[in-house]
Amino acid sequence: MKIIFATNNSHKLQEVNQILGPAFELATPRDCGITEDIPEEQPTLEGNALQKARYIHERTGMDCFADDTGLEVAALGGAPGVHSARYATDGHDPEANMSLLLENLAGAADRSARFRTVIALILKGKEYLFEGEVRGHIAELRSGSEGFGYDPVFVPEGYDTTFAQMSAAEKNGISHRGRAVAKLADFLKACTE
Ligand code: IMP
Repeated sequence: MKIIFATNNSHKLQEVNQILGPAFELATPRDCGITEDIPEEQPTLEGNALQKARYIHERTGMDCFADDTGLEVAALGGAPGVHSARYATDGHDPEANMSLLLENLAGAADRSARFRTVIALILKGKEYLFEGEVRGHIAELRSGSEGFGYDPVFVPEGYDTTFAQMSAAEKNGISHRGRAVAKLADFLKACTE
């Protein structure tokens, strides 16, 4: 089964490919001639995932899915949330994002946080949503060099290391995206059996 994943991030594509297995052939927007940035202008993760999936579906008519992720920090009222990529600047700067996060949490007693991923799937013209989350807390300092984004400051529940101190396989096994993709995979496999 061929399906478009609305991302041009090769790391994400590889990760999702591994979970879905060989029964699914993943294509990218670029493979289908869509080279522009896909708009994500909605105030929620659900809204953005749907907007991206609809954008691809309207232009290709093909089955497709899109994801959107945010880090939600309790003491900050759920921020940075849908603005996680551009929290500190407009330029997707993870170092600046982490610095601002640590600054905004200075002295906070409650450092609890969660990563949440929403996947929107359009299959045979019908829309479906899948969600995955991982709870944890924001460390006082950065640790580790694996992963990306906020990984050096996020400690998942039940661990005393950050995501950036884990191997990719260990992180994917418990991560927000890993859990959302596993739900998508179960659904797609059931639909094609
Ligand atoms: P996206 O929707 O997957 O592009 O994620 C939006 C932003 O959330 C990214 O730019 C990162 O700052 C952050 N983010 C998403 N997933 C992760 C993760 O697994 N670890 C750390 N940060 C993440």
